[in-house]
Amino acid sequence: MIESSQPATRDDVALHYDQLDRFYREVWGEHVHHGLWRTGRETSAEATRNLTDAVVAKARLAAGMTLCDVGCGYGQTARIIAQEQRVKVTGLTVSAAQHRYAVTATPAEVDATFLLQDWLHNDRAAGEFDALIAIESTEHMADKARVFSEAARVLKPGGRLVVCAWLAREPLKPWEQRHLIEPICREGRMPGMGTENEYTRWMTEAGFTAISAEDVSMQVARTWPICAWRFCVGVLRRPGYLRFLLDRKNDNRIFALTMLRLWLAYHRGAMRYLIFSAVKA
Ligand SMILES: C[S@@+](CC[C@H](N)C(=O)[O-])C[C@H]1O[C@@H](n2cnc3c(N)ncnc32)[C@H](O)[C@@H]1O
Repeated sequence: MIESSQPATRDDVALHYDQLDRFYREVWGEHVHHGLWRTGRETSAEATRNLTDAVVAKARLAAGMTLCDVGCGYGQTARIIAQEQRVKVTGLTVSAAQHRYAVTATPAEVDATFLLQDWLHNDRAAGEFDALIAIESTEHMADKARVFSEAARVLKPGGRLVVCAWLAREPLKPWEQRHLIEPICREGRMPGMGTENEYTRWMTEAGFTAISAEDVSMQVARTWPICAWRFCVGVLRRPGYLRFLLDRKNDNRIFALTMLRLWLAYHRGAMRYLIFSAVKA
């Protein structure tokens, strides 16, 4: 695993999403995950929806099931799944801003509940869920072995796990590690970025079988030039963007630079994006 040179605690992660709340929503929308360009002709909204659909297909959901969404962001994936699949969803986030938004944006008839709770210290019951998804949240947790042992604990036997993860290529060139992956971790408040082999090992050790991974790195990479461009337009058009960038109190303003590193990291093949699926034995 490529480790950040600075620790990223749960509070650091929460502050990242709380401070950047406005920017995530204005620049990208209610999904805080990459878009997936299957044909290359999709709009960014269609591409983000494609990623949700890919996760839903791999989770093999059916009406009446229970699903845990680890790191649910603004709850958009949870709402879609609850409404369209007739599944009861429980989402967890550590960001108070995301939690507030998720609760407010979810109509009473949608069977989705949102908890402001750390996955590594969750209060979910053993065997509570038929399926569990984690879209771009495992990167933020230091103890990856515990991420997966908790997933195995709350799933029923035969329950499905789907994880979308940012990964480091193995091996990295020293400059890719120094100027791309380590700073991406540090600036993005990720304690470390794992590799495909490490994720597979953590899942296996937690008791998952039938582990498979789809590499969609090249189909998601376009997310970052689009975000960087929209952010630049925001700086030119909205005074609040420039004020935010110039204010030293906003530690997380560094993420404006991280977007460029992410763009380059995918372009170089130093960073990968995989959708894992597995079954609890
Ligand atoms: C990149 S966002 C992805 C959000 C959502 N899955 C989506 O696709 O829109 C990362 C999410 O992981 C959550 N997260 C990070 N660490 C967490 C932890 N220890 N427990 C629960 N959620 C966590 C953050 O609060 C945030 O909602």
